[in-house]
Amino acid sequence: MKCPECKMLYSEDSQTDRREHSRYHDSIVNGHRSKIYKKEKVIFQASDYRITVVDKRSTRYETERAIAVGVMGHTESGYDSRPFDKSELFDSRTQVTVFLVHCHDRTIGILVAERATIKWKMTWDEYSHRDVPPEFDSGENLWSGRFIWVHSKHRRRGLAKQLVSSALDFLGIGIEEFAYSSQLSKDGEMLARSLSSRFLGTR
Ligand SMILES: CC(C)(COP(=O)(O)OP(=O)(O)OC[C@H]1O[C@@H](n2cnc3c(N)ncnc32)[C@H](O)[C@@H]1OP(=O)(O)O)[C@@H](O)C(=O)NCCC(=O)NCCS
Ligand SMILES: [Zn+2]
Repeated sequence: MKCPECKMLYSEDSQTDRREHSRYHDSIVNGHRSKIYKKEKVIFQASDYRITVVDKRSTRYETERAIAVGVMGHTESGYDSRPFDKSELFDSRTQVTVFLVHCHDRTIGILVAERATIKWKMTWDEYSHRDVPPEFDSGENLWSGRFIWVHSKHRRRGLAKQLVSSALDFLGIGIEEFAYSSQLSKDGEMLARSLSSRFLGTR
C-alpha cells in the first residue's frame, strides 16, 4: 500500500516494512530525529530553535544528518536528486556550506549555500515580467542559496529568514551580496522578495 501522508510504498504483511514505514513516517511528519550533539557548531539559539553549520570540519554524524534532511526537503519539494553531495563540503572549488535548523531533537530546516558565478541581475519587477536583461558574467563567485527548506509544520514563523540571516553573519556578507538559484519556487520567490530589493541569480 501507499501511505497517503508520507507517500511511502510498503507491505502491511511484512513486519520489516511496517517498522521501516513507521520510522520514515515519523520523520516526514515531525522532522528528522536527531540528537542535540555536543560537537555541533551552534550559530543561533532562541527559545525552541537552534541553527548549526555543517562544513568540512563537521563530524560524520552531522554530515549524514544534513544529507538526510536535504533529501527529505528535496523530496517534499518535488525534486528527485539530493541538494548537495558530501564530497562538495570538502571541495575547495565548489565551496558548499550547509546550515540546519533544529527544534529540540528534530532537524526541521536546511539552507545549502554555495559560491557561484552570477549570471542575472534584475529588479523584482523585471523578474516577474520575465523581462530578462542580457545574461552577464560577473566574473566573481558570490555566496548564493542553492536550496532552502523548512518543514511545513514550522513555516511562517520567520525560520527561513533567520536561517539566511545567521548564514550571512557566519559567511561575513550582507543580504545585497547574496544570490539565489535561478529556479526559485513560488515559496522561494516570496521569501527572496521579502529579504532583498533585487534578484541576483546564478546559472
Ligand atoms: C520557502 C520556505 C523555506 C520559507 O520558509 P519559512 O520559514 O516559512 O519562511 P519565513 O517564515 O522566514 O518567511 C519570511 C517572510 O518571507 C515571505 N514568505 C515566505 N514564505 C511565503 C509564502 N509561502 N507566501 C508568501 N510570503 C512568504 C513573507 O514575507 C514572510 O514574512 P511574514 O510571514 O511575516 O509575512 C518554505 O516555504 C519552504 O520550505 N517551502 C518549500 C521548499 C521551497 O520551495 N524552497 C525554495 C526553493 S527555491
Ligand atoms: Zn506514512
